[in-house]
Amino acid sequence: MMKTKITQYLEEVNNFNADNIEALEAFRIKFLSKKGLIPALFTDFKSVPPQERKEVGQLINGLKNAVQQKIVALKEAMESASETTVSGLDLTLPVEAPLGTRHPLSVVRNEIIDIFSRIGFTVSEGPEIEDDFHNFTALNFPPDHPARDMQDTFFIEKDPDIALRTHTSSVQVRVMENAQPPLRTISPGRVFRNEAISARAHCIFHQVEGLYVDTDVSFADLKQTLFYFARELFGEHTKIRFRPSYFPFTEPSAEMDVSCNICGGKGCNVCKYTGWVEILGCGMVDPNVLDNCNIDSKKYTGFAFGMGIERITMLKYRINDLRLFFENDMRFLKQFESAI
Ligand code: DAH
Repeated sequence: MMKTKITQYLEEVNNFNADNIEALEAFRIKFLSKKGLIPALFTDFKSVPPQERKEVGQLINGLKNAVQQKIVALKEAMESASETTVSGLDLTLPVEAPLGTRHPLSVVRNEIIDIFSRIGFTVSEGPEIEDDFHNFTALNFPPDHPARDMQDTFFIEKDPDIALRTHTSSVQVRVMENAQPPLRTISPGRVFRNEAISARAHCIFHQVEGLYVDTDVSFADLKQTLFYFARELFGEHTKIRFRPSYFPFTEPSAEMDVSCNICGGKGCNVCKYTGWVEILGCGMVDPNVLDNCNIDSKKYTGFAFGMGIERITMLKYRINDLRLFFENDMRFLKQFESAI
């Protein structure tokens, strides 16, 4: 009598299936709760004759195990199903998310690298945290020379010898220390100056440094290289002009202007109605700098130049506020979506 009941229950348990948690809970209550079928069997067990007890006891325990295993198995099946179909999501479908795009500063940096690599310049990098020697001393800034005030430096508080580099000219020092001419390299990178943030200035910005050292390098080579660069970057009708300037690490030094690519030289508010915009500083590497870096200044000459990537990007894309580059505003960045 009891054995048949148990066999029927076992059959019911084996055939049971549920695809939702409510049905599974009802199943559990039916068999396992205090007033459920299995506790009832244990109660009835008291009236089982002693010679049958062993067998019936095993049957009841077998049924209990079967119920418990069924619950675990169905729960697992429900959980793994819900992992792939939560609110109708099919995680195996291909992704349709928009692809990321390059930042405008990266686009222009890559273009500058490309232009110079076509005439044999390599790319070199140096640390953003620099020592005084590489950022100033080797570049012919004597200690306490007022020229150091040209650049508002972030020093590391505990060590006045260590600072965030104020320009990528520090990389030319590292390149010359580590190799002998002929050298032809550009160094793009991030630089830091303690300046108030405005539409025209930021405390973090980007530069590209250029260096060419060999025998018989002249100012004519400098001019021709930068003329080629300006035409490649701004178009073949671009004109250039040089104005005398001063940098401690070059002698003679100059600043280079390009004809305003916005008004074509006629005059507008970007070029302040002059028809020209300044884009870089340059000059012949001062012999002291060569000597400081163990390059024989009697044998070799060189030219160097340095430009701000933000400034060039603003000019190329007619962007009028430097802060846009650092705010990560999608409305701004999306406009460069097609640039690779
Ligand atoms: N280091 C200069 C600056 O940050 C830029 C510069 C000027 C670099 C002239 C040069 C150079 O290599 O020859 O303002």
